[in-house]
Amino acid sequence: MIFVSDFLVIGSGIAGLSFALKAAKHGTVHIITKKDSAESNTNYAQGGIAAVFSPGDSLDSHIQDTLTAGDGLCHPDAVEQLVTDGPARIQELIDLGVAFSRKNGEIELVREGGHSVHRILHAKDLTGREIERALLAALHENENIQIFEHRQAIDLITEHHTGGIMKEGHPTCFGAYVLNPETQEIDRFLSKITYLCTGGAGQVYLHTTNPLIATGDGIAMACRAGATVGNLEFMQFHPTSLYSKSGRRFLISEAVRGHGALLLNRAGERFMERYDSRMELATRDIVARAIDREMKNNGDDFVLLDVSHVPEDELRDQFPTIFETCLKEGIDISREPIPVVPAAHYMCGGVDCDLTGKTSIRNLYVGGETAFTGVHGANRLASNSLLEAIVWAHKSVEDAAVKLNSIRFQTRSIPEWDDKGTVNTEEWILVSHSFHEIKSLMWDYVGIVRSDLRLERARRRMDFLRDEIEEFYKRTRLTPEIVELRNLALVASLIIRCARIRKESRGLHFTTDFPAKLPDGEVQDTLWCDENGKI
Ligand code: FAD
Ligand code: SIN
Repeated sequence: MIFVSDFLVIGSGIAGLSFALKAAKHGTVHIITKKDSAESNTNYAQGGIAAVFSPGDSLDSHIQDTLTAGDGLCHPDAVEQLVTDGPARIQELIDLGVAFSRKNGEIELVREGGHSVHRILHAKDLTGREIERALLAALHENENIQIFEHRQAIDLITEHHTGGIMKEGHPTCFGAYVLNPETQEIDRFLSKITYLCTGGAGQVYLHTTNPLIATGDGIAMACRAGATVGNLEFMQFHPTSLYSKSGRRFLISEAVRGHGALLLNRAGERFMERYDSRMELATRDIVARAIDREMKNNGDDFVLLDVSHVPEDELRDQFPTIFETCLKEGIDISREPIPVVPAAHYMCGGVDCDLTGKTSIRNLYVGGETAFTGVHGANRLASNSLLEAIVWAHKSVEDAAVKLNSIRFQTRSIPEWDDKGTVNTEEWILVSHSFHEIKSLMWDYVGIVRSDLRLERARRRMDFLRDEIEEFYKRTRLTPEIVELRNLALVASLIIRCARIRKESRGLHFTTDFPAKLPDGEVQDTLWCDENGKI
């Protein structure tokens, strides 16, 4: 089938929904999303959204904290846009009905690592769920927007499929091929403007705070279509996910440390004293590395996060979900410390774009965690990602609306998806085993601490795996799992490639072969572009 709209939005997290609501003022919008509409990283965001909202704070201070966390690699113009536009975009969320927590009638601001003041708006410890709820409610009332759940984008449509000639050497995006798992059909969703916002790639790693949707589909699709991607070596590991023997990693928000929680090793020592004067509220790269070192030095599987000095009522009120989830795991956080470990959490790099979200592919914009806007540099400041998503979505709509009328639909020249010669497969073990292999090797060789030897070993194994997966992909009738596996493999390879290019340690990228930072004048983003994702 063919579906046609002015705007195609791929993903229904905060970036996609914010873009869709604004784009609908200018034309028709189709949103496709691969699970239920709320299932996204957004829906699990706990701590909150950062912005200058109190008289004791300033734009300069938020800018400075963001730059410090980014460790010399942030793009200053992007950070300025984020921080300056942030308060107005958050006010729009409030006007839409997002119920941020209040104290004595005023919005309550909390603190997280790397922030020099209390500046984070939150909705208890389920901020993302509240934002997602409000956005979806507004969207359901909008006649210009149609949402298609359980539809998985496979590839962006460009001249590669139409056989047309690229203008000035840059591909143009005409929409996407989309799998409908129920009918097993691959539909064509055509659009003038495509907004790619499929979230992050935490599932590349064995242990992650991310839900299953986070398989880096957008980064992989954009890369295959010939877009420039960048800074993928900067995978952020959140310092404190709940350690459970089952392997399930539930996030213990940084706001818990902002509320006074202490990090202890198993000997009971407050070890952050030895790593950073900001102690538990140092930036995430520093805290995660410190925990990793403590665990390795002491041969422990976890460290402890102790908030038991805070009264139970206060903990239940401030962190109801964390309190209940820990209780279900047999931990009463008002009486005993929480075992925690770092886990892959956030992709700081992504598809390269400008201050309006425009990519190197015509009519393709990116947003949210899929985008590499330059805001986060080598390490994202806590609670800046929800903010980045709404600030960039606004800018993208402004920019796209101006050119919408000058774009003509391409409908006739878009061929159907070609699946001749493919067969159904019963070999599910190949898919599940490959998933596990990639996640394990990325965790072991491309984790918090890296080295040339480990990266080279990871590259060799990934090259071999990718050949196998490509061959399987070409002869097999597509399923959501096969599509995700192929994307995961490409993104893992891109992370390794970026990590091998960076010959220094900075922010989230630490390698024992180059433990120092390059001098300021020599620092660069790691950019990569090659059609068909050949790397
Ligand atoms: P997502 O919210 O992940 O949405 C992506 C969407 O794309 C989903 O709907 C998904 O189903 C869809 N999709 C993916 N692939 C396809 C495909 N092939 N076809 C169709 N649809 C597809 N950030 C903060 O700023 N503050 C916080 O407090 C915070 N807490 C967090 C807590 C947790 C546990 C996690 C995991 C992240 C947290 N983050 C936080 C990070 C933040 O939540 C994310 O970066 C942000 O929500 C990303 O939004 P997004 O719209 O880009 O992507
Ligand atoms: C958290 O609540 O610790 C997550 C915040 C973030 O990822 O920005």
